[in-house]
Amino acid sequence: MGFRYDHHHGAGAYICGEETALLESLEGKKGMPRLKPPFPANVGLYGCPTTVNNVESIAVVPDIMRRGAAWFASIGRPNNTGTKIFCISGHVNNPCNVEEAMGIPLRELLERHAGGVRGGWGNLLAVIPGGSSMPLIPASQCVPLPMDFDGTREVKSALGTAAVIVMDKSTDIVRAIARISYFYKHESCGQCTPCREGMGWMWRVLMRMAEGRAHKREIDMLMDVTQQIEGHTICAFGDGAAWPVQGLLRHFRHEIERRIDEYAANPHPEPVRAAAE
Ligand SMILES: Cc1cc2nc3c(=O)[nH]c(=O)nc-3n(C[C@H](O)[C@H](O)[C@H](O)COP(=O)(O)O)c2cc1C
Ligand code: SF4
Repeated sequence: MGFRYDHHHGAGAYICGEETALLESLEGKKGMPRLKPPFPANVGLYGCPTTVNNVESIAVVPDIMRRGAAWFASIGRPNNTGTKIFCISGHVNNPCNVEEAMGIPLRELLERHAGGVRGGWGNLLAVIPGGSSMPLIPASQCVPLPMDFDGTREVKSALGTAAVIVMDKSTDIVRAIARISYFYKHESCGQCTPCREGMGWMWRVLMRMAEGRAHKREIDMLMDVTQQIEGHTICAFGDGAAWPVQGLLRHFRHEIERRIDEYAANPHPEPVRAAAE
C-alpha cells in the first residue's frame, strides 16, 4: 500500500514546534498555539483528526515493527524503556548526537560518546538534561543520574528533548540562564499575558542579577513570577521558560546573593548589556 508524502519547510520560529502552532502554520496562519481541547487527534489540520509526532518517534517505528515491542521495552528500566537520541552540547570535548539506552548514567553518556567534560569531570558546574526549557542540575546531583524520565525527575528536572547542555566551571551561570530567558522572550508568540510580559521581565531582572545590581528580596519575587507563569498559559512554552529560572534560583541562589553583596560593596554604574552580546 502506498501513500502520499508532502514535505514542508518551517520558517524558523521555535513556537512552530508546538504541535498546534505547527498546524496553524501549515494552514498558512500565524504560528500561534491553539487552545486545547480539542486536541489534534480530534480536530487537527484543517479540522481533520491529525497525528503529530517527532521525527525521532517515527524513525524508531520500523525497528520496533521488525524486532517486536518486547525487544524495545527490554531496553532501559521499567517505566523508562527504549532508546533515546541524546544531543550533547556545551563544554564537552566532542559534542555529538547519539542514540543510547534510556537510563544510561549521565557520566557514562558523556564519557563514552562526548569525550567527557572539558577539563575533566571535576570541572563540571551543572547540566541541563533536556533542552534549554528544563531546570539545571548542579554537578553534586549528577552522579548517579540515570538519563531517563524518573531519574531526571528525582532531581527536580526532566528528560525533555534529551538535549544535554553541559556547563563547566568557567560558565557564568546567572548570565547563561539570562541568555536562555532572552531566547524565550524573543520566541514568545505573545498571545498569553503571563508569557508575553513575564519573559521580558524575567530577562531584565536576571541581567541585573548577573551584575549584582539587584535586591535580595527580588530573588523571591522572581521565583514568584516564574510560578505565576507556570501553568497559566495556553501552551507549555510558558512552563518551559519558567523552569530554567526556577532551577537557577533553587541551586545557585548563593551565587546571586554573592554578586548582590559584591556590587553593594563596590557599586559601579555599568549599564545592563543585552544578553545577546
Ligand atoms: C514551545 C514548544 C515547542 C515544541 N517544539 C517541538 C519541536 O521542535 N519538535 C517536536 O517534535 N516537538 C516539539 N514540541 C512538542 C510537540 O508539541 C508535540 O508534543 C510533539 O511533537 C509530539 O511528538 P512525540 O509524541 O513524537 O514526541 C514543542 C512543544 C512546545 C510546548
Ligand atoms: S505560552 Fe507563550 S508561546 Fe505559548 S501560546 Fe502563550 S504566549 Fe504563545
